[in-house]
Amino acid sequence: MKDNRIMLTGFMGSGKTSVATALARELNYPFLDTDKYIEEREGMSVADIFAKRGEAYFRTLEHQITFDLMKNFSAVISSGGGFILTDAVYQLAASKFNLVFLDTPFEVCLSRIKNDKSRPLAATRTDEELLKLYNYRRGIYRARSDFSVDGSKKLLSDVVDEIIHKL
Ligand code: S3P
Repeated sequence: MKDNRIMLTGFMGSGKTSVATALARELNYPFLDTDKYIEEREGMSVADIFAKRGEAYFRTLEHQITFDLMKNFSAVISSGGGFILTDAVYQLAASKFNLVFLDTPFEVCLSRIKNDKSRPLAATRTDEELLKLYNYRRGIYRARSDFSVDGSKKLLSDVVDEIIHKL
């Protein structure tokens, strides 16, 4: 294991927050959610940030908070689906974060994010467009993460066990 900091990556609806919460409990590490952190910092929901300031501004915020995340000695972090697609990933890699890709089938992700107004990228896309985005991003998640885990397992505890085994 590289360090005591773990970040869950993966597509919207892949289950990052649920898995990260359970993993943090199991390891007894603090849990952190990048979207929640940004929302608290800005005093605005992610949907409102996208609507009022635009996606580029949101990506800048994701990049900025990376420095805050690195201050935690140990943590399990659930990241927004676009987080490791920005330059932030280089800082994370340099500071020895364990990046874990939660590889969940598209149909499962879609059923969770469809018509979800709190997810601006999902709310404005058709199923076909989301599938395209999913396929494009999946290669990046895999390439940039340290390892992948199967997100389609029925039991959360099985996903958590797989991560702990691979760390
Ligand atoms: C995004 C995913 C969202 C949130 C924002 C952008 C993305 O987080 O950060 O809406 O680019 O995939 P979740 O992955 O938790 O839905």
